[in-house]
Amino acid sequence: MIAWKIHASKITASTNTDARKGVHGDVFTAEMQTAGRGRLNHEWLSPSGENLLASAVFDVVGVDAAEVAAFPLVVGLSVAETIERFVSDVKIKWPNDVWIDGKKVCGILCERNGDCVIAGIGINVRQKKFPPPIEKTATSLALENPEFENIPPSKVLDAVLETLGRNYSVWKEDGFGKIRERLIAFDALCGREISVRQTDDGDDVVSGLCGGIADDGSLLVGGVKVYAGEAHVIL
Ligand code: BTN
Repeated sequence: MIAWKIHASKITASTNTDARKGVHGDVFTAEMQTAGRGRLNHEWLSPSGENLLASAVFDVVGVDAAEVAAFPLVVGLSVAETIERFVSDVKIKWPNDVWIDGKKVCGILCERNGDCVIAGIGINVRQKKFPPPIEKTATSLALENPEFENIPPSKVLDAVLETLGRNYSVWKEDGFGKIRERLIAFDALCGREISVRQTDDGDDVVSGLCGGIADDGSLLVGGVKVYAGEAHVIL
């Protein structure tokens, strides 16, 4: 069990930046971010008070670098397992998105900070309108289940942290392999024709049939292991 300590702000630049001063178990939240960050230098925009914006700090001392690289999938699994109790057709799109019915409901940005990893989590909770260019590709818990219109993002955070605390312990004690066993059921890409822009390999694009998430957290695409990238479904 992790003794979470929540540090809540009304407005901040980015909770991931705030979390750099945190230690294991600290969670930084905000109602609004003025410089919310996504992966690959994207920005993360969210109207004030409507969504969950949180960054949790985890001790990763002694954990192998390859295992740490798979940590976004531990976070993704935790979000997926939490929200599937309330909405259907929840999937994880490697490496760090959670989808409901093919639309993105959550993005995850994990960043290393010394002996810790900061897990930044953005979940669309009550937002019902999304601006271009994401108006057709984004969704929220409230759009999928109207009960969420009256649920504050902090309640969703409590539920996610409970699952994440348990999954962190499994990952730390038994390794990513144990997490992967449960990830397979949520894999949005396995068995589909995809193309992946490899962000750690000169932006090379690999295309082919996706063989799913491997035991080291990489994605198998046409028999090749991809460790970092942006995946798109072709068929
Ligand atoms: C992505 O999908 O590219 C990742 C998005 C991560 C957004 C969250 S919101 C809370 C935390 N603070 C940030 O600046 N980013 C993450």
